Amino acid sequence: MDLPSPQLAWIDGQPLPAPGGATFATVDPSTEEVLAEVARCGEEAVDTAVAGARRAFPGWRDLAPPERAGRIRAVARALAGRAEEFARLETLDTGKPLSLARSEVDGTVRYLDYYAGLADKIHGESIPLGPGYLNYTVHEPVGVTGHIVPWNAPLNMVGRSLGPALAAGNTAVVKPAEQTPLTALRFGALCREAGLPDGVYQVVPGFGTEAGAALAAHPGIDSLTFTGSVATGRAVARACADRIRPVVLELGGKSPQLVFADADLDTVAAEVAKGIFTNTGQFCDAGSRLLVEESVREALVERLVARAHAVDCGPGGDDPDMGPLISAEQRDRVRGFLARGEAEGARRLGPGPESVPGRGYFVPPTVFTGVRPDMAIAREEIFGPVLCVQGFRDEAEAIALANDTSYGLAAGIHTRDLDRAHRLAAALEAGYVMINEYFTGGIGSPFGGWKESGIGHERGLEAVHNYTRLKNVVVRVAR
Ligand code: NAI
Ligand code: MG
Repeated sequence: MDLPSPQLAWIDGQPLPAPGGATFATVDPSTEEVLAEVARCGEEAVDTAVAGARRAFPGWRDLAPPERAGRIRAVARALAGRAEEFARLETLDTGKPLSLARSEVDGTVRYLDYYAGLADKIHGESIPLGPGYLNYTVHEPVGVTGHIVPWNAPLNMVGRSLGPALAAGNTAVVKPAEQTPLTALRFGALCREAGLPDGVYQVVPGFGTEAGAALAAHPGIDSLTFTGSVATGRAVARACADRIRPVVLELGGKSPQLVFADADLDTVAAEVAKGIFTNTGQFCDAGSRLLVEESVREALVERLVARAHAVDCGPGGDDPDMGPLISAEQRDRVRGFLARGEAEGARRLGPGPESVPGRGYFVPPTVFTGVRPDMAIAREEIFGPVLCVQGFRDEAEAIALANDTSYGLAAGIHTRDLDRAHRLAAALEAGYVMINEYFTGGIGSPFGGWKESGIGHERGLEAVHNYTRLKNVVVRVAR
């Protein structure tokens, strides 16, 4: 693949080196080889990007909404036309299987189309005050929006927050993760070719503590959308607090999948395996805790361990079932949890380390049984293909176990009993509940976490209001 190095920032419709020409390397996690050097942006580059986005804002805001929609749709069509190229680039930079990268690029196209369709439907209401008054609300764009994006679904997450931000009439400055900057950067050039005005989409690649922190603290951004770890979420929320600036936080989880004895175990095994092994477990809503009714626990674990043995691990470009983790750091972190789980007395099942390629950041799919609620593996987000199994005797115990976590992002329920499914959906402390199919829903379904999993929602109609501010206008009409 044609990959010029260094890869430059994308600012005001042009590639731009970081001041002083500083760079960092992005790596292919399947091979551990450097793919390209990338501009290492800091405060100065972020300043330039924010200033450009500010200049571009009035022109973009003042386009007639159908025109703005058309411009976003043109970007969507351009991406759809080059979907394979972007999927291959994403696979190189993340190590994820090509089919998964393809579906994420397709999802990015759909985000853009979905929110383009909203651009001319962001309307307020009129409030009756009686004769002599007119009272109405307007949803205005906030201005320059900041987006700090993680590495687990890089371009897809750009699309998720960029779509509503642009549709509402804002401009955007995006800080991709240092592990995966390539697709967000190439998307800049694609936007220009598709006719998006310069400065509407700016990209400042770099490290979290440099470009990320500079963007979060910048006085020139009017909102911030962050997806990543709880610790970094706290840091960016503090920076936003200092400026009384709205922030959306999407911070991962420890999501349970609850399985009752009446469910079809073969179907459930497929859903549970999908929920934890897809993307090598690196999804914020990965179903990382299996809570299963005691009477079927052994039968389900047997099926899951068989599935773990059947997972074929390899370089993303070969389109295996499971690729590597994103980095040596994440691999070591997951290995640390595997060792800790064993040390704390849980039983580790599934293929051993010899089953995965020696080169690349691979870890084997793993199932832990004998997990107690106080163990680190039961409480902390592992962000790897590691499933922790706990049994329960009745509904009350299932609910107590499910809610015994500081997180509250997603939950899966598997049962054929409709009443029970809805009782549980009401009792679970999670922002997103899926019944009898994991990762179900999609772009139109509001997605956001409770508790330490975050603040606010992405996806769906409501997400557009992450990027608007409400104005109420009251008129005394003379008689
Ligand atoms: P992270 O939260 O540090 O990184 C996410 C993004 O934040 C990246 O773009 C990074 O450059 C940026 N960032 C880092 N420090 C920053 C700062 N001080 N100010 C502004 N931006 C900053 O996550 P990391 O270290 O890559 O992964 C650690 C753990 O976080 C994972 O093991 C996983 O548990 C969780 N995580 C959750 C994600 C989710 O989808 N909710 C995505 C990525 C990580
Ligand atoms: Mg990379």
